[in-house]
Amino acid sequence: MKFDNVIIGSGLAALWCAKFLNDAAKSTLIITKNQVWDCNSFYAQGGVTLALDEKDVPIHIQDTLKAGSYHNKKEIVEILSKASLKLKEELLNYGFKFDPGVTKEGAHSIRRVFHAGGDATGRELHKFIFRKDKSYLLDEAVVFDILMEKSVAYGVSIYHKGKKYNIYGDNIIIASGGIGALYKYDTNARTISGDLQGLAVEKGIKLKDMEMTQFHPTVFIETRFSQKLLLTEALRGEGAYIIDETGRRFLFDYDERGELASRDIVSRAIFLHQQKGHKVFLDVSMFDEEYFKKRFPTIYQKLKDYDINVPYEPIPISPAFHYMMGGIEVDENSKIPGFENLYAIGEVAYTGVHGANRLASNSLLECFVFAKRASAEIIKRNFKTKDKIFSIISEELFKNDDKHYKNLLREQMWKNVGIVRDERGLKEALSFIEDTIPKLGRLAKLRFLTAREIVKAAINRKNSLGAHYRKDENA
Ligand code: SIN
Repeated sequence: MKFDNVIIGSGLAALWCAKFLNDAAKSTLIITKNQVWDCNSFYAQGGVTLALDEKDVPIHIQDTLKAGSYHNKKEIVEILSKASLKLKEELLNYGFKFDPGVTKEGAHSIRRVFHAGGDATGRELHKFIFRKDKSYLLDEAVVFDILMEKSVAYGVSIYHKGKKYNIYGDNIIIASGGIGALYKYDTNARTISGDLQGLAVEKGIKLKDMEMTQFHPTVFIETRFSQKLLLTEALRGEGAYIIDETGRRFLFDYDERGELASRDIVSRAIFLHQQKGHKVFLDVSMFDEEYFKKRFPTIYQKLKDYDINVPYEPIPISPAFHYMMGGIEVDENSKIPGFENLYAIGEVAYTGVHGANRLASNSLLECFVFAKRASAEIIKRNFKTKDKIFSIISEELFKNDDKHYKNLLREQMWKNVGIVRDERGLKEALSFIEDTIPKLGRLAKLRFLTAREIVKAAINRKNSLGAHYRKDENA
């Protein structure tokens, strides 16, 4: 089976890239691990940051750089922010309607976050764009190899309904998302496990800033599912407080912006407060119940299901892993340097836009902007691979104890590669990972290779920066 383009992943970056490829009459296959909506974009609550007008562009750029501890690539942030003006028009012309009004989230100096379905922006966008999608779709298919020769990617190997196949394409676009399943507590879709970053390690494709893992401050973790319930930052943007068991808004001890400081600062403050023995809650009692129900319907319903009397009762919260700033290094057109026809878009990619800590709601914007740039580059280059048949690697995909080791990894990453890090803990995580890799089936091994890159990068960055916090930095 050969297609013009093969996209791995089915989030907004994948769908938006496919839209432009399909508009140019290219055949595009989207491969997704489970169902098409099992992706992080679908669960994005807050919204999409869009600069309000030309005058807001430099302010949005400055907010993004400041939140990212100025570790961002400035020229890429400029591309992102300028493109957001056009994206607003494009989405409107495509027929998509945001809710009226814009909201604010942490570290934004003004209200510029557009939302839909109240707190279901990702779901509304994903449903809308997928409905118009003209790609071929292969679901329940796990990619376990990229077929490469020198600087050319010829296709992928997939595992689908108990069988292994190769699928070929002129361009391979990696849009497989981040790494949520590597951590004990995370907000990500259950399919998001860093396999493609592991494949990148195996193929000698460069990963960058892998130590930059973002923890969302307000997550309800007392659920039985591995995906924990995000409580959108828009709640704080619209007035919710973070308090401890005494009712004190302790965040001001850490940053004068309190609840509206950037995510890295708020998460760390909560974590450190918890370490001192406190319990931490989100107080939403200032909202009228009818307003809350309409503005945050997903959160309202889900918390009710857990018997929380919203908005009257304080909601117990903890930070949880949320987003990977690092990833497969790409150029400004989302092409992986050194390869003719290999691209990465969305969370799996490192564009350099987020720096050491992503500004809230910049991720969907990045998906749209760089997916479109990837499609333009693919169309312009018009690269064709020669017809070539690859054999499928024989490595065992699954081993009996994989699940057990994956759970141990989640514990290790949370304990030693979490919000506060030090050399001793990072080295403990590294030896666990290295000792375990030989015992694993291929798919679990790929996620361990990704984890190893995160740990190595965290060991190498000796000083704190943004989301990477080393408590032993002066030791
Ligand atoms: C949120 O709604 O707080 C999450 C949005 C984001 O990750 O930027």
